[in-house]
Amino acid sequence: MQMDRLKTPWPPVLTMLASAIGLMRLPFVRATPLQQSLHGVKTVKTIKPDFQVLDSVEKLWATWLGHAGFLIQLPGESGHRPIEDLPDIDFVAISHNHYDHCDLDALKALWDRSHGIDFLVPLGVKPTLESVGIPSDRIHDLDWWDKIEFPPTFGRKCSYVFTCTPAQHNSGRGMLDQNWSLWCSWVVQQIPEEGPAAASVYFAGDTGYQTAVGPCPAFKEIGERLGPFDLAMVPIWSGASLTFLGKMGYRLSDDTHLVTLHATPEDAVRLAADVRARHTLAMHFATFAGSDDEALEPVVRLAKAQGGTADWRNEGGFGAIDVGESVALDCVPAA
Ligand SMILES: *[C@@H]1O[C@H](CO)[C@@H](O)[C@H](O)[C@H]1NC(C)=O
Repeated sequence: MQMDRLKTPWPPVLTMLASAIGLMRLPFVRATPLQQSLHGVKTVKTIKPDFQVLDSVEKLWATWLGHAGFLIQLPGESGHRPIEDLPDIDFVAISHNHYDHCDLDALKALWDRSHGIDFLVPLGVKPTLESVGIPSDRIHDLDWWDKIEFPPTFGRKCSYVFTCTPAQHNSGRGMLDQNWSLWCSWVVQQIPEEGPAAASVYFAGDTGYQTAVGPCPAFKEIGERLGPFDLAMVPIWSGASLTFLGKMGYRLSDDTHLVTLHATPEDAVRLAADVRARHTLAMHFATFAGSDDEALEPVVRLAKAQGGTADWRNEGGFGAIDVGESVALDCVPAA
């Protein structure tokens, strides 16, 4: 399929870059160490995952794999643990083709050790996965608001509906394919044989929240059409972009350079409320941080944006867990 170059439908925030150049001022400044008045806010650490905990199948389990990767086990489905102690994976949903979200070596390794995985990708990303030998009938490419339902099969008790939902970002793996494939977020709903959705999850992928005319309206629409969600996973930082600045001891002088494509911690809190998330886990920070402070600043700001605490266990709460940590939630069936 030949696609045209894509663009999000919302006008971008004008960056300070243009005015900084006009004023002969640099858009980045020397980083100063974060104040140590950060009571109780810790940066995340990396721990060895304990996949044994997934044997308690009555809960929704989320394990942070680092950066923007989570392993989700929805309630009632047993986590068979085959090789290397990793649970058997049924689905992999990918938000866009940037290298830090679509690592072909990892996807190929997952495919090779699996009993068969269905990959969910936004339009235009299918050839990228086919290029490492993943069969095309297992790669499902969707446009925004399209959905696909997987019925219960041997080893799966419920149906799963994946909806490709909007995000405000861009795409490209090189100079020549900028915006030639789509970017998205994902909603997963667990549908038992009888009754309403038993559990639902929103994965924001990589996204900004601000447009030139205020908040991007897509998130409220996602919340209205498909929310509320038991769990949301939302990026709170620019992730792998611009980490070279931190490595050199600099930082951006201003968030406006980033807000169209990347949610700040403050924007991420608004985004999670718009989609109507009951609990939100932070992602897309710390893994590729350019400095220790750059790993810490997002969680400090996330706590501040919520009045001092960042406890995802609270109703409406939003916080970070450690890389490798698994956490459990009770789901509230839809009314
Ligand atoms: C890619 O899309 C983003 C988001 O819509 C837009 O800001 C950017 O200008 C586009 N880039 C190109 C090269 O078309």
